[in-house]
Amino acid sequence: MSFTVAIDGPAAAGKGTISRAIAREFGFAHLDTGLLYRAVGMKGGDPIIAARNLSSDDLARDGLRSLAAGEAASRVAVLPEVRAALVAFQRDFAQRAGGAVLDGRDIGTIICPEAEVKLFVTASAETRARRRWLEAGEQGGYEEVLAQVRARDARDIGRADAPLLAAPDAILLDTTEMTVAQAIEAAKEVIAERL
Ligand code: C5P
Repeated sequence: MSFTVAIDGPAAAGKGTISRAIAREFGFAHLDTGLLYRAVGMKGGDPIIAARNLSSDDLARDGLRSLAAGEAASRVAVLPEVRAALVAFQRDFAQRAGGAVLDGRDIGTIICPEAEVKLFVTASAETRARRRWLEAGEQGGYEEVLAQVRARDARDIGRADAPLLAAPDAILLDTTEMTVAQAIEAAKEVIAERL
């Protein structure tokens, strides 16, 4: 029996933190699908070939969490061939016995439309930029991070293939006014109700 939790939403909304906490709480495996696109974006060369040959070494590279890697990821993520090359890996991961949580942009809509739980985690662009700016110790100021968050949102929402979109049956979790602990608690409650 597999049980899938799909967590989608824009950059820095809290998906990763919530996903890790859920995986710990319920003993689920966790896949941060953004890491796949980041690794493809940072590999260099033809991104379609990179996506088809992605290895665990590629996923273990340093620097994949940087703003630059996120930017590179969102550029290759618009390519349908790149997305197609990563589908099977993500679906196989979701089929694991005991349960899995996958976070990304298109998990509830494309990768796992049959997921038992779908959460769409969001927050205002200003809040997300502030969190990223505070947590990442990135070079540059808040305004620069905000501009990057907005540019990434526009690219993720505007692309033709698998755009960032809440599935019609997703539960919306707006974390703008929530602490991390509150957001985690809200997500746990939704899952516990459906287990
Ligand atoms: O979630 P994260 O910020 O790591 O994702 C980096 C980029 O990868 C996103 O901005 C998006 O363009 C792309 N992505 C995607 N589909 C996913 C996960 C990430 O298109 N399921």
